[in-house]
Amino acid sequence: MELGRALCVVTGASRGFGLTVCRELAARVAPGSWLLLVARSEERLRQEAGRLMERWPGLGISWVAADLSTKEGVRRTVMAADGLKSEREAADTVLIINNAGSLGDISKSFVDMTDVVAVDNYFSFNVSSALCLTSSLLTTFPRCPGLRRVVVNVSSLAAIKPFKSWTLYCTGKAARDMMFRVLAEEEADVRVLSYGPGPLDTDMQEELRTQMADAEMRQCFIDMKNEGKLVDIEASARKMLDIIQTNTYKSGDHVDFYEV
Ligand SMILES: NC(=O)c1ccc[n+]([C@@H]2O[C@H](COP(=O)([O-])OP(=O)(O)OC[C@H]3O[C@@H](n4cnc5c(N)ncnc54)[C@H](OP(=O)(O)O)[C@@H]3O)[C@@H](O)[C@H]2O)c1
Repeated sequence: MELGRALCVVTGASRGFGLTVCRELAARVAPGSWLLLVARSEERLRQEAGRLMERWPGLGISWVAADLSTKEGVRRTVMAADGLKSEREAADTVLIINNAGSLGDISKSFVDMTDVVAVDNYFSFNVSSALCLTSSLLTTFPRCPGLRRVVVNVSSLAAIKPFKSWTLYCTGKAARDMMFRVLAEEEADVRVLSYGPGPLDTDMQEELRTQMADAEMRQCFIDMKNEGKLVDIEASARKMLDIIQTNTYKSGDHVDFYEV
């Protein structure tokens, strides 16, 4: 499946996996496509958007600095996407990539998780905002003959396997997988993919190596880095886009980097 002229919204696009996905996407979509990059760091977004525009002059690149842990951040992102509505007529694909995420406090174990507000804040960003952003974007770009709508949930092995010190992360990823499975059940025309990108050498991995409460787990991640066992981030981004384009997965499924 060619992506053709695509309208793409990528959250967490300022660095790490989201940024790599944007670079790979830019190389695959047809001229006249638009990429909307979302994250909090305005300067990083501005710089990356500039690089992409220079490299791919046929594409429209825009960005919005928004904190997706807040209602205002979600609203600003939806407003920015609304600005692309005039491009919808000519679009073949709308692609929404829910990539932004955080680990939460991994220095605490389950029994130390006593702060309800901190827990709520975690789920507000990692679960609620992904739901409300996706629903609003699907409303902004409704079902339309000839328009493919694809929603990606950047997931993790943590969605299906418990890890010590990851109470919030595992719970959030599991909730997101189920949330997007419901979307797949309800909206037959929307292709929904939960993709586990594998362990990637990003800021998030650095956090795991330095802040994780469980010493054995922490050492495991340090060893993985030292032994060169982390997954190549570009290979993982390419695989995710290949899965979307090959289009043989069951909508709503969780597909991991290592599975395909
Ligand atoms: N790295 C791994 O090993 C790994 C493995 C499995 C799954 N994943 C998943 O892959 C995704 C990307 O991970 P990563 O490793 O690339 O993470 P990362 O390096 O920590 O990057 C996170 C991205 O999310 C953005 N972000 C963070 N908080 C935000 C907020 N409140 N509002 C808007 N944007 C926010 C960050 O940009 P700003 O700081 O500019 O906002 C950044 O662009 C995550 O969903 C993660 O759970 C990662």
